[in-house]
Amino acid sequence: MSFVIAQITDTHLALTKPFFRDNFAVAAAALRASKPDLVVNTGDVSVNGADLREDLVAAKEMHDALGLPWIAIPGNHDIGDTQETARKQPIDETRRARWLDVFGPDYWMRDVPGWRLLGINAQLLASDLTAAAGQAKFVADAVAGLGGRQLALFLHKPLFIETSDDNEMSGHLLTPRARAELTAALNGVKPRVTCCGHLHEYRERHFDGVRHIWAPATAFTLADWFIPTHGGEHIVGYVELTLEADGSFVSRLVQPEGLQPLDLADFPDAYGDVRQIKAAMDARKAELAAAK
Ligand SMILES: [Fe+2]
Ligand SMILES: [Fe+2]
Repeated sequence: MSFVIAQITDTHLALTKPFFRDNFAVAAAALRASKPDLVVNTGDVSVNGADLREDLVAAKEMHDALGLPWIAIPGNHDIGDTQETARKQPIDETRRARWLDVFGPDYWMRDVPGWRLLGINAQLLASDLTAAAGQAKFVADAVAGLGGRQLALFLHKPLFIETSDDNEMSGHLLTPRARAELTAALNGVKPRVTCCGHLHEYRERHFDGVRHIWAPATAFTLADWFIPTHGGEHIVGYVELTLEADGSFVSRLVQPEGLQPLDLADFPDAYGDVRQIKAAMDARKAELAAAK
């Protein structure tokens, strides 16, 4: 028996900043037509849930309106960013409490035939929140109890860009400390597949026996001059995963007709002027490199 997951990500929804709602509506229609067993949103569900409860509530209501089973994990724009790299909006207790109140758990597990689905809060890794230890124990318990199941890991940020000893310190991927914490919690167990979003770049690669899927954003794409791609593509869409009870799986890119390849640079009211954001990001990167 197959279990079909639609992995959507980076929907960036809000009532007062409705720029990306039409793309969500297109994706929602495609999802309602294809009726996956589960929709998983791998974060940045909202425009600014890190500061605004109403953005989280709006995003939650739009997911409820799908009329399909769905679950989400938080992205940096929903719950705050990794403390080590955040220029602003680091994850903290207040932000996390807001997510828990509106969306429920920020890490979770689901068992389906032949597989264990494990969703984690990537921004909680390498943080000073007490829940970081709770999440690590949850992951350790989840892998200890795998039995014969395959593990599918969902998190907002890529584990690494090229190799698992990638030491880039930036908000783009797990920091070395965050990755080390996750690796320790996994205790030598390798997921069969990892599914993330965040970079708004579609890329699928096999590395060391693990398939790493970077799903494209539903909301918008990014210009190459703003954030260069890492061997993938700046496109919009989502990924459909079909998990088989024997542990095999297939993935495919879905690009529903009508989904617009919106460029964040054309929506300065969403996050500000992209050229200024890039300048700030470059300055922060230099700061982090100097601090190493
Ligand atoms: Fe995003
Ligand atoms: Fe993100």
